[in-house]
Amino acid sequence: MLSNATYPPDMREIGHWFASHEHEWTDGSAYRFAIELEDRVIGIVDVDSIVGGSGSLGYWLEKSAWGKAYAFEAAQALIDFVFYEIGLSSLGSGHAFDNPASGRVLTRLGFMPVGARELFSQSRRETITQCCYELARQAKHTPRPELRDS
Ligand SMILES: CC(C)(COP(=O)(O)OP(=O)(O)OC[C@H]1O[C@@H](n2cnc3c(N)ncnc32)[C@H](O)[C@@H]1OP(=O)(O)O)[C@@H](O)C(=O)NCCC(=O)NCCS
Repeated sequence: MLSNATYPPDMREIGHWFASHEHEWTDGSAYRFAIELEDRVIGIVDVDSIVGGSGSLGYWLEKSAWGKAYAFEAAQALIDFVFYEIGLSSLGSGHAFDNPASGRVLTRLGFMPVGARELFSQSRRETITQCCYELARQAKHTPRPELRDS
């Protein structure tokens, strides 16, 4: 379901990908986090392709961790980070037409559907239809000053 990753995984390619993360973080082009459960990495959530205050959200989990809303929880934390600590103003994302679980994660996060496009999937080695979504930063809720101490 990952359009940019080859399948089966190419370990050399993955090694290069991991090696680029520190530089991406420093130059502000991507922020990638491990999702950990009981001291073990079970997935990754990231925002990449950052240009002009906008980026692209992605996530994936190992199969044993599916169906427990971990993707939602991790993506929500990353969205807060990129909007309110990094200062991005919008995010895009997308999922393969036949991956409704990912669509449910996006709509629960508040993403709005904005159409579809044809895309070459590296993992499937075919052109697929990708459903596209967007999320704009909104003012973060803070209690009114007079209510804070009551
Ligand atoms: C997509 C993925 C990250 C979902 O993560 P998750 O933590 O298992 O997601 P959730 O448990 O929150 O499930 C998401 C929703 O999809 C629903 N769902 C699960 N499988 C479904 C299916 N086959 N059809 C329709 N809905 C489905 C769940 O009921 C849930 O709905 P809810 O929000 O109403 O409760 C995970 O399946 C995954 O890693 N897949 C492989 C990689 C991938 O697809 N990455 C995204 C690329 S766009």
